[in-house]
Amino acid sequence: MNIYLYHNTKAEKCNKRLTLIWIGYIIKSRTLRRFEAFLWIDRFREFPEAGTEYINMYQDKKVVFSGVQPSGVLTIGNYLGAIRNFPKFSEEYRCYYCIADEHAITVRQNPADLRRRTYETLALYIACGLDPRKNVIYVQSHVPAHAELAWILDCYTMFGELSRMTQFKDKSKKNAENVNAGLFTYPSLMAADILLYQTELVPVGDDQKQHLEITRDIAVRFNGIYGDVFVVPEPFISRTPSARIMSLADPKRKMSKSDENENATVRILDPRDVIIRKFKRAVTDSDTLVRAGEGKDGIINLMSIYSALTDKSFPEIEREFDGKGYGDFKLAVGEACADALAPVQEEYTRLIADKKYLEDVMAAGAAAAAKDARKTLSKVRRKIGFTDQPRY
Ligand code: TRP
Repeated sequence: MNIYLYHNTKAEKCNKRLTLIWIGYIIKSRTLRRFEAFLWIDRFREFPEAGTEYINMYQDKKVVFSGVQPSGVLTIGNYLGAIRNFPKFSEEYRCYYCIADEHAITVRQNPADLRRRTYETLALYIACGLDPRKNVIYVQSHVPAHAELAWILDCYTMFGELSRMTQFKDKSKKNAENVNAGLFTYPSLMAADILLYQTELVPVGDDQKQHLEITRDIAVRFNGIYGDVFVVPEPFISRTPSARIMSLADPKRKMSKSDENENATVRILDPRDVIIRKFKRAVTDSDTLVRAGEGKDGIINLMSIYSALTDKSFPEIEREFDGKGYGDFKLAVGEACADALAPVQEEYTRLIADKKYLEDVMAAGAAAAAKDARKTLSKVRRKIGFTDQPRY
């Protein structure tokens, strides 16, 4: 380069110009980076409570952990039976809501659908009243500690235990062509989810009770070897009694988001006319009285739904529909349901269009969750004899 200083050549001029461009580029990229950092800080400023301050402030609260798979569209069973009560929990508990995409891939997923449903589940949770500033809401695969602890726990979970899981047996029958190892070890991943956050309480439906039991067994076994590493979780029984909603097509079975019969489930995002039509078609009995009684499971289910929606007691409902037929009653339940879901649907429509906001929530949630998960994972690593992870 010095050579060019002695000879005022074209090459030198060119070089000078290049140097200037280069310096300009550095300044520009630094400013850009600073600007980006500023934007990043701003992102978190929107959700300060999801970060460390919130967690530290509420350190003494009991931990509640709940997971939902981003597959299938949530039903009014999920809403009335669980999600509707979630916002209240954050006053008393420190709550984690995990969108379990890693669990979802134990059965084959269409990638585009999985991605879309992950956003949709998040938007729906927020639309149902879950405040991302007061709860840690995040996507499972954004926090690698889940998969890491799951592997470790796999080594403390017995083949025999896993073989006894009824969900594994059911799902392997349903997906006979894809009985993969993940489907088998699903419970250790779920145990990792729960145990990473030193969870005390897990709200679970009947179908997940066995998984909570095995989580407790794994925790007790691990603690037995290494001392008290994990809190042993309990099932969460809400003080507010939550409705148990049955299928509209078969009122002896629980309403399930994966039911193939469209008329069996009312989904939170079903349009008003669809909701009313599904209630009109609900299976009842050959009697005509709106009354809770033997063999009237269909009517009892509709009464539970109506009661959950309107806060009316069974005797009040019986009085209200005294002398009226099933048609009137079904229409009233359908309308009450559509009315109750309208504000949720409106908020959902607004949120799902705002991808940037949803991604900000994901980022803040993952940061908060990862920070807590790391504490447990480091302790586990130390206890089992892994060497300290070098910084790289
Ligand atoms: N397995 C649960 C389901 O399918 C979802 C889930 C994943 C979960 N991790 C969890 C539920 C932890 C409770 C706790 O419904």
